[in-house]
Order: sequence, then C-alpha cells, then structure tokens
Amino acid sequence: MLNRLSPQAPDKIIGLMQAFRADPRTDKVDLGVGVYRDANGTTPVMQAVKSAEERIWQQQASKGYVGIEGDPAFLEAIAGLTLGEAAPRNRLASVATPGGTGAVRIALDLVRLANPAARVFIPDPSWPNHAAIAGFLGLEQVEYRYYNAADRALDREGLLDDLGRTGPGDVVILHGCCHNPTGADLTPADWQAVAEVLSRTGALPLVDLAYHGLGAGLEPDAEGVRLLAQRLPQMLVAVSCSKNFGLYRDRVGALLALAPDAATQAVARANMSNLNRQTYAFPPDHGARVVTEILGDAKLRADWAAELSAMRSRIETLRGMLAETLQQKSGSDRFAYLAAQQGMFSLIGASDDQVTALRDVHGVYVIGDSRMNLAGLTEALIPRVADAMVAVGL
Ligand code: LMR
Repeated sequence: MLNRLSPQAPDKIIGLMQAFRADPRTDKVDLGVGVYRDANGTTPVMQAVKSAEERIWQQQASKGYVGIEGDPAFLEAIAGLTLGEAAPRNRLASVATPGGTGAVRIALDLVRLANPAARVFIPDPSWPNHAAIAGFLGLEQVEYRYYNAADRALDREGLLDDLGRTGPGDVVILHGCCHNPTGADLTPADWQAVAEVLSRTGALPLVDLAYHGLGAGLEPDAEGVRLLAQRLPQMLVAVSCSKNFGLYRDRVGALLALAPDAATQAVARANMSNLNRQTYAFPPDHGARVVTEILGDAKLRADWAAELSAMRSRIETLRGMLAETLQQKSGSDRFAYLAAQQGMFSLIGASDDQVTALRDVHGVYVIGDSRMNLAGLTEALIPRVADAMVAVGL
C-alpha cells in the first residue's frame, strides 16, 4: 500500500523552515515562517500565559476529556473576543480546533458537506494552505484579485468586481486583518463594500482571523469581521490564538459559524461536532484553557492586552526603521510601503533570483513569493537586511 504513495513536496513556508534549519551558517536570518521575535530574536512565552499556566498547574484536578466541541467557556471567550455583541449567540455555533489551520480545515469540510460543488474564492495572493486544503478536499478554487503589486496596495476595484461574480453556493476566504502575505488590509469602507457585494450575491464569507491584535489593535482588527456578522445572514470565522497569545505549538483555535436562524445553527453545530469527532475526536484543551483563564480574569486580560499591544507597536516600529534605513541606503522612497502596511508580513517584490541571492549570498531567508516576516526582525539586524535588499537590486 505505502509504495503507491506519490512524493509530496512541502509547501513553500514549511520548505523554507526546513532549508533554514539545515543551513549551517550561524549568522543566517529567518524572515520566513510567521512567528514574532523580541529584540533578542526569541519568540517569548507571554507573561499572562505563564501566569495562567501556573494557575492551571495548581488547580487542574483532571485531564479527563472535555466535550467534543471543546470547552464551552473557551468558545464563549473566543466568540466575545472576536465578534463581541455583533453575533446573536442563538445563531452562533462554535467548535474548538487545533489552531487556526484546524478551523480552516473544518470550515472547508463543512462547506463540502453543504455543497460539494461550492467554489472557494481565494485572494490572489493568499496563505498557501488555503488553496492546499481546498484542493485536497476536491473543492473548486477560484482566485480573486486582491493586491496591486505595482502600487503595493489593495486592488479595491478588482476585489469588488471579482467578488461580484460569486454566487449563493460559493465561499469567499477573507483575511480578517494583517493580510498574509501582502500586509495590505481592507479599510472599514472596504469591508462595508464587501458586505454589500456578498449580501447581493449570497456567497458565504470564511474569515481567517489569525493575527487579531497585531494589525491596528484588538478593536480595529475585529471591525471587519464584526461588520460582516452584522450585515450578513451567515458566515464562518476561523480563529487562531497562535500569534496573539504566542501559543504556536499548543495549537489553539476555533471555528465560529453564524447561521441565519437558530434551527440552522443547531444543524450546523451538529455537523461541526461530527467533523471534530471524525478528525481528532476531542480538540486539544491545554492552550484553550490558558486562553480562557486569561480572557476571564480582568488582571490577566489587561496584562495580555498590554503585552500584545507592545508586540504590535514593536512590529510597527521595525517596519518604520527598515523603511527608513532603506530610504537612507537607496536614496529613494520606494520602500515606504513597508511602513504603510501592517501586521507581520509584506511582499518585498523580489524576483526568484533575488530571493535566492538574499538567501544564498546574504543568509536572509524570505518566502519564495518574496514574503518577508517583519516580526522576525530585530533592531540589530535591520542594517544588514537593508544592505542585502539593496545589494540584490530591490
Ligand atoms: C505563516 O504564514 O508563516 C504562519 O501562518 C505559519 C504557517 O503555518 O504557515
């Protein structure tokens, strides 16, 4: 049996992680996979997470199973953080998932159960796993225009035009904030326009919210998803706690499904429970419990929000510093987009050869589509990275 399998190449993010690990150079710089690093180049455990883990360690009396949907307290904490009061709870079905990827997978499984002929509209470009998961499930994929590479900005007209071609049986993947890989986000007016288009076409939005709090802040980053929840009868939201709680390896996420009415909510919930059951039985709980502890305790929540806000403003500062250093070294303003965009990523517009030269000659690793993880920079690395970017001709 196993000899019938075909070789599988890792996706471009995982492939780069592997290449980075295999590179013996001690001065190599990892600006590939999306993880936040502090000034020492470390991905820290947040202080609120440490405190919550300590409490759990002291108080947890059992490791027995939680429900198939995950802990209801976690699901309500995530619903509150993400949607606030924008979604009536009798229309909201939720399940805990292993990370945001687990949520995207269960979401697209759910879509396939509802309509195997659904077309999945994916922004061009997007996180590679969106297309990979949709493709694995045999769902038809359609790219929609999102980014204008020449302007290094959202292609608003193209986006609205393409979303206008969706229909009631389709699903549209949207990045809630910190678009991965472009860093070009929708403004509130853009979200309004997207809501109008989708309410006209009847397509179902699937909002991937993997960087909540790392773009403009916890409230503004949730504005888009909340606006859709208020304006549309149904939607899916894939939530990740990897980045905003720094719980990467603990795999904490949730899928929220807003149904048009309470009866549909009950059916959606039963389907989501079944999908959880068949995929991994019970979702993991440790990281979810950490998040519940933090969000349910005023002091821990305030500490977490402050630490998250410091991370967000550090990324903003690093973006500004890199743009300014590049301005000085190149004598041009062509890197100003780095400061204007938000979140962890930007596309630096490097060709394949330039990406290779950055890696092979300068030891600077960015993803093959030229995505740079700005949150992987440190202040000390900025001059070297800027030199490398100019040297390869960016
Ligand atoms: C990324 O885009 O680098 C992160 O979301 C990590 C991943 O799983 O790809």
